This record gives sequence, C-alpha cells and structure tokens, in this order.
Amino acid sequence: MSIRIEVDGQPVEAEEGQTIAGVLLSQGRVSWRRSAKTGKARGIFCGIGVCFDCLVVVNGLRDVRACQRRAADGDRVDFQEAAAGDRGESQEAAAGDQSGNRFQGSDVDA
Ligand code: FES
Repeated sequence: MSIRIEVDGQPVEAEEGQTIAGVLLSQGRVSWRRSAKTGKARGIFCGIGVCFDCLVVVNGLRDVRACQRRAADGDRVDFQEAAAGDRGESQEAAAGDQSGNRFQGSDVDA
C-alpha cells in the first residue's frame, strides 16, 4: 500500500513500512545533511540506529534517525545540519521520536 509524505517540501510516494531512509534512498538521495565538525556529507552509514549519521526532522521533531523511523502517511521530513548536542541544546530537547528512539550521543560526529 502506498503512502504519501513530504520531503523537504516536496510530495513523495512511499511504500507502507519503509523507513524514512529507505524512502530517501529510493528517491536517489545518498546524503541529506552535513557534519557540523567536518562538513562532510552524511546519510546512511550503519543503517541500524547506532551512528546517528542519518538524522532528519520529522513533523518538527529534530534528531530522528531516518534508518529507524518508519514513514507514516502525512509525515513531513525536513533536513537538518547538525545534531542537538552540537548546538548546545540539552539532550532532553533532542528527545526521540514516537518509536522510542532516543538521542544519547554526546560523542556523535555530527
Ligand atoms: S544510519 Fe546509523 S543511525 Fe541511522
């Protein structure tokens, strides 16, 4: 079954059950943010929720791991430049998405 989400302001068709990373990859995107420390492109690295390279904003919530969050019909996905820890925000401000994901990495290379 198809769902429809918005990626960086553009409507995108996706398959129910796909992760947001899967949707982005199926659209030909291999990176969607840059490291605040090195400026290098970031996208999928581990694909299992460990590296935090794939962070996106989903429905206004920052630091969602695209490889762990399943796309839901109507989701709005925006790209972000840095993880919350690099902007001096509290870890609580970077609380995880509705799937229970939590941002915990003070040592994240974001
Ligand atoms: S690709 Fe490593 S956490 Fe998503």
